[in-house]
Amino acid sequence: MVNAGKLDSFRRIHFAVTPTPLEPLENLGRELGIPNLWVKRDDLTGFAGGGNKARKLDWLIADAQDKGCDYIVTTGGRQSNHCRMTAAAASKLGMGCSLVLGDPDPGNRAGNLIMDVIFGANLVFIGEANLEQMQDGIDAEIARLRSEGKNPYMIPVGGATPLGGVAFVDAAREFARQIEGRNIDTLVIAVGSAGTSAGLALGLKIFAPHVRLVSISVSRSIDRLRQYIADKANASAELMETPIRVTPDDYELHDDYIGPKYGVPSDGALEAIYMTGRTEGLLLDPVYTGKAMAGLIGLARQGRFANSKGVAFWHTGGFPSLFAFENEVAAYKP
Ligand SMILES: Cc1ncc(COP(=O)(O)O)c(C=O)c1O
Repeated sequence: MVNAGKLDSFRRIHFAVTPTPLEPLENLGRELGIPNLWVKRDDLTGFAGGGNKARKLDWLIADAQDKGCDYIVTTGGRQSNHCRMTAAAASKLGMGCSLVLGDPDPGNRAGNLIMDVIFGANLVFIGEANLEQMQDGIDAEIARLRSEGKNPYMIPVGGATPLGGVAFVDAAREFARQIEGRNIDTLVIAVGSAGTSAGLALGLKIFAPHVRLVSISVSRSIDRLRQYIADKANASAELMETPIRVTPDDYELHDDYIGPKYGVPSDGALEAIYMTGRTEGLLLDPVYTGKAMAGLIGLARQGRFANSKGVAFWHTGGFPSLFAFENEVAAYKP
């Protein structure tokens, strides 16, 4: 008997179009020697160009409304998909939106940035910044908005709050239903702010405990992620009032596919983008899914999946950043 606590008790708005499809990747699977390879198409959540973060906004923006807020403030890198979708959600509900971007202003509005502009967001470039500096940037923007009489709602980087995690417990339930009879026991995904992996780790433990989560970092080291993901998952568990708890033994982490650094394409990501595009007609991006797929490819070559009955790749979206890295992508010779 599953105990998902109060999973269904939180109010949500339906920005994300769900359930997203689960599709076979037969050609790529053949190339990699993974006969039962699948993709969970969260790039097809629809809203504002799609991607995993649309799911979190279903819950977070509802919470902002319930708290009487009229303005959303969040943060990310300048090619943040989370920021792009947050700007769209705010515009849809008639709220203002400030995006605190932890990068210098590139001088162009390529990729996600042009969508941020279209959705009417106020862009606040704070220069190259670490997570702490980005939070400082949020705090300063919130103080500014309050001084103007606004009532802002803060969404931290990646929307990685306990309530944001609930969205991915729900997504794991959706996935658990789709994999019935398909013999899938391994799930590979990109991990950035870790909210998605945390929610999925909890959700899989509740709804599909036979599935092993394999998270490929695009930014932080394993040391920083190992306990962090479990802590985030358990904060969602507490909010949901389920007795189930996650430990670091519940998932596998890899940090050797980050490449030069977060937000800079790696050769592995570029190889993955071309391989997936040319075998499946499926788009990946250089910041998140390209690196996660580079992880899947690298692990396949090491024989990591030799004993897996079936592997799924959770496609988290992010294609707009392809159009901010077109020179790097075009220069790569597959
Ligand atoms: C396309 C894409 N994939 C993966 C992630 C990582 O998700 P998380 O930050 O929840 O770890 C993000 C985060 O913004 C993303 O935009």
